[in-house]
Amino acid sequence: PERLVSARGCQSSCGGVDIPYPFGIGVGAGGRDCFREGFEIDCVYDGPVLANTSLRVVRLSVDPAESLVMLPVGRMCYNATDPRRAEEYSHGETLMNKHGVYRFSSARNMLVVLGCNTMGTIGSDKTARLVDGYSYYLGCMNFCNSSASAQDGQCASLGCCHVDIPPGLTHNYFRFREYDHSSMMDYSPCDYAFLVDRTNYTFRRSDLLRDTLRTSPVWLDWAIRGAGGADSASLSCAQANETKKYACLSNQSYCVDATNGPGYNCNCSEGYEGNAYLVDGCTNIDECADSDKYPCKGVCRDTEGSYRCTCPPGYGSDDPKTQRCAPKFPPAAQICIGNLRRATTSQY
Ligand SMILES: *[C@@H]1O[C@H](CO)[C@@H](O)[C@H](O)[C@H]1NC(C)=O
Ligand SMILES: *[C@@H]1O[C@H](CO)[C@@H](O)[C@H](O)[C@H]1NC(C)=O
Ligand SMILES: *[C@@H]1O[C@H](CO)[C@@H](O)[C@H](O)[C@H]1NC(C)=O
Ligand SMILES: *[C@@H]1O[C@H](CO)[C@@H](O)[C@H](O)[C@H]1NC(C)=O
Ligand SMILES: *[C@@H]1O[C@H](CO)[C@@H](O)[C@H](O)[C@H]1NC(C)=O
Ligand SMILES: *[C@@H]1O[C@H](CO)[C@@H](O)[C@H](O)[C@H]1NC(C)=O
Ligand SMILES: *[C@@H]1O[C@H](CO)[C@@H](O)[C@H](O)[C@H]1NC(C)=O
Repeated sequence: PERLVSARGCQSSCGGVDIPYPFGIGVGAGGRDCFREGFEIDCVYDGPVLANTSLRVVRLSVDPAESLVMLPVGRMCYNATDPRRAEEYSHGETLMNKHGVYRFSSARNMLVVLGCNTMGTIGSDKTARLVDGYSYYLGCMNFCNSSASAQDGQCASLGCCHVDIPPGLTHNYFRFREYDHSSMMDYSPCDYAFLVDRTNYTFRRSDLLRDTLRTSPVWLDWAIRGAGGADSASLSCAQANETKKYACLSNQSYCVDATNGPGYNCNCSEGYEGNAYLVDGCTNIDECADSDKYPCKGVCRDTEGSYRCTCPPGYGSDDPKTQRCAPKFPPAAQICIGNLRRATTSQY
């Protein structure tokens, strides 16, 4: 059967990037939105971006429920004539989580702070007005006393530090503490802070001078959550499955509570694959066509949701999935063949 990626009548890729539902671009069959609220993508001349932003989308995936997006780097640059003061400040803030469907992946990202005399932080949801606008914030600090302190490949608090992030972070918003940068303007005129794919960043001393460091690839966990991202409006599986907007529409699918933040995701049942968010999105896996993943040393036959692996008539095996089928003769027949062979050879 046809593999469904996007909603009917909708564009299923843009600039080489798959756009699986609940993500979608524009309107499709029947004038209906191709996306679920909060998952809108714009296809611009050279590829996909998160709707109404210029944030480049590198990858969108349904299982696991992840997106890889280029997000802006936070920066603070010091005034060349008065290096005690910052003159240019960018928090890296975006509208990327207006609908609250995203959380930064704590498993796949780290926070990196660059600069020779700096403390950089990122906060939790800015709307949670507890401490200075945040319910918590985290970061790390660097000090180095000369241009030789920072070493390529070493992000260990001399010019570069990195920390793990907790689950639940929702906003790309960085802040810096202002420190006197006199005497370090020639090798560290700016501070930088950014989230980045853990496998994607290696510190280079020259990055302290790199005015080109503007965006970084960041993994986002997404889930079906309440409008506006308010936790109270997000439903768990047990609460969502009787509602009108329940997202797990495919037969042979099930609901999984989100692990990073509130809400839920959908998954195809065992033996099925595809997109659980679409009617008929989960289709039977033809296990016999993938012998690496679904071994069978006998005769393989696909069934709805599973497969059968048996030996042909007259053959047997304790486990035909892993052990070859061997001829299964009654003892009398084996003796008979043995005698026959001996009889045949002895003629010559
Ligand atoms: C994008 O902008 C349109 C029009 O202003 C708005 O209806 C829609 O909700 C926005 N989408 C996102 C994801 O911000
Ligand atoms: C840099 O500092 C000088 C001296 O204090 C000041 O005149 C100038 O306006 C500052 N430049 C910026 C862009 O803030
Ligand atoms: C920088 O620190 C090193 C190691 O502590 C020290 O040997 C050196 O004198 C310091 N340099 C300056 C300019 O303070
Ligand atoms: C880092 O991510 C960017 C954007 O996805 C990619 O172009 C680049 O090749 C990656 N670099 C490494 C070292 O993985
Ligand atoms: C919803 O969840 C409850 C509890 O897990 C279950 O008993 C019920 O069958 C589910 N309903 C649907 C429509 O999946
Ligand atoms: C979903 O499964 C039910 C029960 O197996 C079946 O009656 C129904 O026709 C299926 N719906 C679709 C759209 O395949
Ligand atoms: C979803 O299904 C896939 C394939 O069966 C499985 O590998 C994965 O662990 C499941 N995810 C969850 C969250 O249950």
